[in-house]
Amino acid sequence: MSDSNQNTADAALAALKELKSEIAETVLDSIQAVDDYRIRFLSRKQGQITDLLKRIPEVANEHKKSFGQEINTAKALVEKRIEEATQRLSSVAEESGGGVDLTLPGRIQPTGSLHPITQALRLITRVFENYGFDVEEGPEIEDDWHNFSALNFPPDHPARDMQDTFFIEAPSKAHDGILLRTHTSPVQIRVMENKKPPIRVIVPGRVYRNEAISYKSYCLFHQVEGLYVDEGVTMADLKQIIQAFARTLFGENVKMRFRPSFFPFTEPSAEVDIWWEDEALPDGGRWMEILGCGMVDPNVLEGLGIDSEKYTGYAFGMGIERIAMLRYGIDDIRILYENDVRFLEQFS
Ligand code: PHE
Repeated sequence: MSDSNQNTADAALAALKELKSEIAETVLDSIQAVDDYRIRFLSRKQGQITDLLKRIPEVANEHKKSFGQEINTAKALVEKRIEEATQRLSSVAEESGGGVDLTLPGRIQPTGSLHPITQALRLITRVFENYGFDVEEGPEIEDDWHNFSALNFPPDHPARDMQDTFFIEAPSKAHDGILLRTHTSPVQIRVMENKKPPIRVIVPGRVYRNEAISYKSYCLFHQVEGLYVDEGVTMADLKQIIQAFARTLFGENVKMRFRPSFFPFTEPSAEVDIWWEDEALPDGGRWMEILGCGMVDPNVLEGLGIDSEKYTGYAFGMGIERIAMLRYGIDDIRILYENDVRFLEQFS
């Protein structure tokens, strides 16, 4: 071994000796101090013990063994002191409340809220439940029969057009076409298929239309359908329930009108508008359509085996988004589907 090698080996031994006293004496009185200590001696990159281990090859062969043993003893001491200090510090923390400062204000967990559409849907459903309506639901994937034919839509009715309807399967021998329902009215048919009058149901649900998306229309939206079939149901009953509904939702003094309209499955049919006050408009407001309704067409009842001489009924259907937008002053339907928390937060 050359002289210079001997010198490096001696230097390594001297370094180890000096380190040993520091390892034994460094004060470990905080988590931070223990951390620093660990890094100083054991860190893989710059730890001083790690460093000495790397210098073993420089030490003369006959000293290698004892040098290595001394490093290992030093390393064991470091580990033992870290372990002891950590235990001591954590038991001190536990005695004083587990390191929890009970005087700090609590952390507030953000809570979500019901989507405005869900809120409007539940509100509307509740109003009708109070009048004795049961809640029914139906499938969003429908067949052409329930969505159109059974509702008295003629085969060439424009509502069946590709422009409006999302078709899933073309008509085949097995069925006459599968589609996403364009309204909740098919559930009228499903209910009448399964129940005898008196029938009094409300049907909330999602519907789909292949429309150009804009501030006022979206490819999906929600409706609430109502159906009442019994002996002696008249248009007066329909007007009465719609008026009560509008008053609950828009206030006792709401101004409304029934406007003659057309739906294949009701006769006569009407649309209902409410007067929406808006100072900015020249007339101080405008009529806003909120729903479609009418007396169930006898054809529909007969098609389901319900005697239309004995039973009559009314039906109505309203768009939830429209009503939610009016109630909450929302002017763009698309925002209801963006799930922007800044928007949704306003409804908690
Ligand atoms: N289903 C009709 C629509 O979506 C609304 C409606 C329902 C009209 C019930 C009359 C009776 O436009």
